[in-house]
Amino acid sequence: MDYCFGCLKENVKEFCSSCEKRLFDRSKINPQLNFNWEAISKVIDGYPAGFSISGVQTKGFIGKATGTELSPILADGESSMYIIKPLLSRFDLPSDSPANEHVTMQIAKQIYGIRTAECCFMKFANGTPAYVTRRFDYNKDEEKLNQEDFASVLQAKKDNGGRYKYLAKTYEDFKDVLSALNKVQFIKILIFNFLTGNGDAHLKNFSLLETPDGDMQLSPSYDLMNTKIHVKNSPIALNLFRELERTSLPRGQVYSYAMKDFIELGKRFGISDRLLNKIVKEFEGTEDKMKEMINKSFLSDEAKKKYLETIEKNFLQLFSK
Ligand SMILES: Nc1ncnc2c1ncn2[C@@H]1O[C@H](COP(=O)(O)OP(=O)(O)O)[C@@H](O)[C@H]1O
Ligand SMILES: [Mg+2]
Ligand SMILES: [Zn+2]
Repeated sequence: MDYCFGCLKENVKEFCSSCEKRLFDRSKINPQLNFNWEAISKVIDGYPAGFSISGVQTKGFIGKATGTELSPILADGESSMYIIKPLLSRFDLPSDSPANEHVTMQIAKQIYGIRTAECCFMKFANGTPAYVTRRFDYNKDEEKLNQEDFASVLQAKKDNGGRYKYLAKTYEDFKDVLSALNKVQFIKILIFNFLTGNGDAHLKNFSLLETPDGDMQLSPSYDLMNTKIHVKNSPIALNLFRELERTSLPRGQVYSYAMKDFIELGKRFGISDRLLNKIVKEFEGTEDKMKEMINKSFLSDEAKKKYLETIEKNFLQLFSK
């Protein structure tokens, strides 16, 4: 069976027409790129290293498509409209990282209605996988929108090595910055990250983005993936609460998150019981739908198995009393 390289719709070779439009504003794009990773000269580094996967991965900033092909090179003065990530350069099952990020983003969007960056799975000319995302910090007229990540929004301090001291902040600290609607979205994203085994949702993986009215609101989600496929890291990246639930445990013990914790955070955010119940309902009974998407994804069989194990374990834990 063939699945759309964007939305994973069945019986689609390459991209379905709505993905072509939404991702590329085109009617035909070849998911097989005509260049290799090496052709991308404008790689950027400097994203936070420090723990787990962040910053290890290099990324390329590429321009719009010409004809049916994406081009690795930006023309003079051209803005980059896409970010492309190759497979991980180390860790377990590194060649599954593009498919992992792709399916996780699609699950967030399609099953839970989380606003996500538009993204797809592609292949370099030599057949190795790539993850491609359309930049949300440029509007349709290719004008740059202001974006500020939470390391900057929350003024996280840096240590002597110039790395952010993420652990000095908690998810509860987002309270003072997010609008009422964003708070509901944020709780959903945290539950989603827990379920999908994302131990890497640190301050730089959340941003505020300028809206057409000029306010700063939570941006579409990005960098969602099951990090447990590649590394052993903590269940969630930051502590939920200011009183640090994880550091209060005896050394070596892992805090066991359940729905009550996310509800407690929601209460501290001032979200009504009615809305919190609605969030819980949105996650109840979704395990099979998630499994279906994982099975349709571009992950290897071994990575699918690990992903399914992650969510089985986390669903049980989330809905335990
Ligand atoms: N679709 C996107 N549009 C705009 N900016 C993005 C998008 N995806 C990622 N970014 C920005 O690029 C940075 C690096 O991307 P990310 O996916 O987090 O890569 P990494 O795996 O290296 O952390 C992010 O912190 C975010 O600021
Ligand atoms: Mg990131
Ligand atoms: Zn599609």
